[in-house]
Amino acid sequence: MESTKTKILKLLRSEKGYLSGQELCEKLGVSRTAVWKYMKQLKEEGYQIQAVQNKGYCLVDVPDVLGESEIKSRLTTKWAGKEVYFQEETDSTNTQAKKLAEEGAVSGTLVVADCQKKGKGRRGRVWESPKGSSVYMTLLMRPDILPQRASMLTLVMGLSVAQAVQKILDSEKCTQKVQIKWPNDVVLNRKKLVGILTEMSAQIDYIEYLVIGVGINVNTGEFPEELQDKATSLQAELGHSVNRAELIAQIMKRFEDNYAIFEKTQDLSGLLEEYEAVSANCQQPVKVLEPGKEYTGIARGINKMGELLVEREDHRIEQVYAGEVSVRGLYSYV
Ligand code: BTN
Repeated sequence: MESTKTKILKLLRSEKGYLSGQELCEKLGVSRTAVWKYMKQLKEEGYQIQAVQNKGYCLVDVPDVLGESEIKSRLTTKWAGKEVYFQEETDSTNTQAKKLAEEGAVSGTLVVADCQKKGKGRRGRVWESPKGSSVYMTLLMRPDILPQRASMLTLVMGLSVAQAVQKILDSEKCTQKVQIKWPNDVVLNRKKLVGILTEMSAQIDYIEYLVIGVGINVNTGEFPEELQDKATSLQAELGHSVNRAELIAQIMKRFEDNYAIFEKTQDLSGLLEEYEAVSANCQQPVKVLEPGKEYTGIARGINKMGELLVEREDHRIEQVYAGEVSVRGLYSYV
């Protein structure tokens, strides 16, 4: 069920001019006083709403407000983001999503926070998660697939994020191209823009739930010195800030569409072309670091199971599974 606030935001956004109080009351089925109260709340949350007598209400500025109603009012999906849990501050959206899963939350639940105190990266690393500038979100799913196939969903998410970001760049006539560093870093200008961490609870042949956590540097102003050559943000590349709620909604839409393609074959065969088109590794020399094994080779693309194909010096092809593995460019981060 859509909340009244979500409906008001949708109506205000779709209206070019003013929307009269009367119209709002009729469309929402609430009283004038209720409308006035909602407008007051929205203003307090940072929305710039102009109220003019005999004309009504107009949304004059859409600030980068992140909240449940803001996200819901932009979502156009059927199941991805069906429930949205928003917190100003949390430990980690992955931890929260797992907790909600244990309590029975539905597949498609999306957890979003404005700040994380214990943001988790891959391989036990910390994901710095300052307030007010980035996207920290986790999608909870209960997919009917074998646990061995779960890592492919990380690739589906990576592709979806890359496509949503590329759309923003294209709409601004920016010529830069988003790429994916297998398995799950989205890069821009050869620097990391997005990290993805997938965790799951499974039996040997059955996934109880899976959480796909996405961290995106959106409006990050400055990075610590040690990260300056390795990380970037959308704001740093575009020169202006980007609306985080809209970005989240676009990613959910892409993910839902891509997941429908994945679901048909339960592998990446229907998405390989799109993935290869944005792959940063293809035909690049890479170093593969697997637990207890380290080697170099040339990345030749991925197969339909999402494994990276690495050609070694003796021309043998290694199929690298996207588990606890790290792949680095030989000469740079990518
Ligand atoms: C990586 O190491 O590249 C993965 C980073 C994943 C970070 C995101 S932010 C939202 C979600 N919550 C977490 O604690 N981690 C993921």
